[in-house]
Amino acid sequence: MRIGIDLGTTYSAVAAVRGGTAEIVDCQDGRLTPSAVFFDDGRPVVGMSAKNMAAVSPEDYVDLVKRRMGMPGPVHIDEKGREYRPEEMSAIILAHLASQAGLSLGGEVREAVITVPAYFGDAARKATRDAAEIAGLRPLRILNEPTAAGIAYGLLRSESGTFMVYDLGGGTFDVTVMRVGGDDLEVIATDGNRALGGFDFDNILITYAALEILATGGPELRDGGQGEARLRAACEDAKRRLSQLDRAMIRVAGPDRLHQVPVTRRRFEEITAGLLARTEDISESVLAQSNLGWTDIDKVLLVGGSSRMPMVADMLQRLTGRRPSMDINPDEAVALGAALLADQIEPEDRPVVVGPGAGGFRDVTSHGMGIAALDDRGVRSNTVVIPRNTPIPCKRLRDFYTTRANQAEVCFELTEGDSEDIDEVEVTVLDMIALPPDLPEQAPLRVGMGFDADATMYIGLFDVTNERFLGEYQLSRPENMTREAKEASRRTLLELEAGRE
Ligand SMILES: Nc1ncnc2c1ncn2[C@@H]1O[C@H](COP(=O)(O)OP(=O)(O)OP(=O)(O)O)[C@@H](O)[C@H]1O
Ligand SMILES: [Mg+2]
Repeated sequence: MRIGIDLGTTYSAVAAVRGGTAEIVDCQDGRLTPSAVFFDDGRPVVGMSAKNMAAVSPEDYVDLVKRRMGMPGPVHIDEKGREYRPEEMSAIILAHLASQAGLSLGGEVREAVITVPAYFGDAARKATRDAAEIAGLRPLRILNEPTAAGIAYGLLRSESGTFMVYDLGGGTFDVTVMRVGGDDLEVIATDGNRALGGFDFDNILITYAALEILATGGPELRDGGQGEARLRAACEDAKRRLSQLDRAMIRVAGPDRLHQVPVTRRRFEEITAGLLARTEDISESVLAQSNLGWTDIDKVLLVGGSSRMPMVADMLQRLTGRRPSMDINPDEAVALGAALLADQIEPEDRPVVVGPGAGGFRDVTSHGMGIAALDDRGVRSNTVVIPRNTPIPCKRLRDFYTTRANQAEVCFELTEGDSEDIDEVEVTVLDMIALPPDLPEQAPLRVGMGFDADATMYIGLFDVTNERFLGEYQLSRPENMTREAKEASRRTLLELEAGRE
């Protein structure tokens, strides 16, 4: 069986196509499952029962893992000293969601389309794919969240036109402009911020409440432990109430007594105005990259739980002159779109044809990809080979030249980012590549670079003089796990699960 999974920073949702329509699948916690893990005596539990333990035992509690995807470091070290990488923690969440969905749907879930923010780079996409494999799921496709939302609107509501998807979730923000027409969807431009979401709005409210409590002679609750976890939960609750009410009371138990901090919606909007303005800047920038103006946008789709804050719709109305759309539940559109795509992908063993015409969904690259090389002035700089917002799948060739005769080797460095300034982009050293002897100065070395439909990249280096491949790379970065490590991790996960019976 197949499902679509919106693996969120704070909440996850699962959907499946049943009887021809996509529906959210009920899990133990209902339609949304907190992306939270709690280690109860070393064994992981996922969801609300984990989230409830955040304030009781913060050292055994892990959340916001998605923000660390594609980074190497452990996100948790358990009592026995076992380290968990971000993809292993995500695997625990994915395995829980798949097993819950299996119970709900009556069968075993083996395959899934999993969504990621459009702005995820290559390492984070690979980590997501790895997480699925560790969880025992075949990742049918790693799909961009805004594209998934567009698919949901296009297919479920048969809508067409130029859409902007404004997705403000728990941990990330994405804006995407796309053309949707029935079964066809073409992404024009996308941009976002990996560290901008409801969590950051919570943080500002936490600071506000903590200072108010201090000002009235109360204790410092931001202790990095139980007090802070309780304060965080109280502030998130109050923030949600402020989406309906014009004032709310933040209620949090201190070590001494119950503290109550009143906050109005207007005050909350004032202290978080800077965050909202950042989403406005990014929206404007994506519009400019699409060569469109606000009047060209037929509809703004609100996606992500934080888009329920009234200030979001107000801002977008100011920009577009119209109320944005919430016809599909903003927490659910992404999972529904993922399920619809999962349903369309060819059955296993048949090669999946991608690109325009197959499913009709065309996405774009979210980062420039290039090579670090010396420029005309001999300064090491970034040469973008595939610019951002290039439709995928895609392939580009570009020649670079040796700097001197008989050059022995080149350092093959891949960049991710759009700036020419090497300090502003991410650099991954792929290899030191030995060159054949006797190459003249300015001998061309051809770089071939491409993205498949998952936006996973591949890269090759070709010696034009001798017509010979010097190296081909499926990126394996230090940030990502090796196959052996993944297999070991899968075994550990199975053991942990067996121990839970
Ligand atoms: N009614 C509401 N008003 C304000 N914020 C809300 C409301 N409902 C949910 N949120 C916030 O939305 C966020 C969760 O949204 P969502 O589930 O879309 O995010 P996510 O998928 O976990 O994150 P991401 O998409 O960034 O990975 C949380 O920060 C939550 O506090
Ligand atoms: Mg989300």
